[in-house]
Amino acid sequence: MYKLIVIICSTREGRKGPIVADWFIPLAKANKHFIVEVIDLKEVNLPFMDEPNHPRLKKYTKKHTWDWSRIIDEADAFIMVLPEYNYGYPATIKNAIDYLHQEWLYKPVGFVSYGGIAAGTRSIQALKQVLTALQMVPLMESVNIPFFTKYINADNHFVATEEQNHAAQNLLFSLEKWTETLAPMRKARLHPEHK
Ligand SMILES: Cc1cc2nc3c(=O)[nH]c(=O)nc-3n(C[C@H](O)[C@H](O)[C@H](O)COP(=O)(O)O)c2cc1C
Repeated sequence: MYKLIVIICSTREGRKGPIVADWFIPLAKANKHFIVEVIDLKEVNLPFMDEPNHPRLKKYTKKHTWDWSRIIDEADAFIMVLPEYNYGYPATIKNAIDYLHQEWLYKPVGFVSYGGIAAGTRSIQALKQVLTALQMVPLMESVNIPFFTKYINADNHFVATEEQNHAAQNLLFSLEKWTETLAPMRKARLHPEHK
């Protein structure tokens, strides 16, 4: 079993991210390859990156950084539940990523994005570039929900279409394969700079 961390990336008052996540999480939990943990960046509540040393050195000076480091270190795979802010990703996820280095290396990451006409895809594309700087593997398969509020009912539940459920299963299948593939890489010797 691999540990899958689902990260809820938005933190603003009145955000919709948890509603979308609440649809996806049971599907992930039903997958027998993963033990799922949900991490909400609003609860993690990191300040703007305030460490004096480059994260590659792992010489953290703050408790909040060590707490965040332990969470991400334990993960074998990630799903980011990601909105699109001004054609990009929210600053909250970039900040959370920038805090760490070794903890992210060689891990796969999939996306459940949501937004207007572009369904959050511009956000994903911009974030992929950041993630590859950390040797992460962003997946091609993703769930992209356009005009996502259409699928939120009066009880604030996300009611997915057949296609969205299918896309979620495709994403989880791809994540399984990449998780299995990358796990041995992390066991092997790390690059000397990452020691
Ligand atoms: C600051 C901001 C910028 C936004 N920019 C975009 C955008 O570029 N593209 C888009 O599809 N939706 C955009 N939206 C609308 C979001 O898709 C929508 O508000 C969504 O609920 C945001 O996710 P959240 O509720 O989890 O924060 C933006 C929303 C905010 C708050």
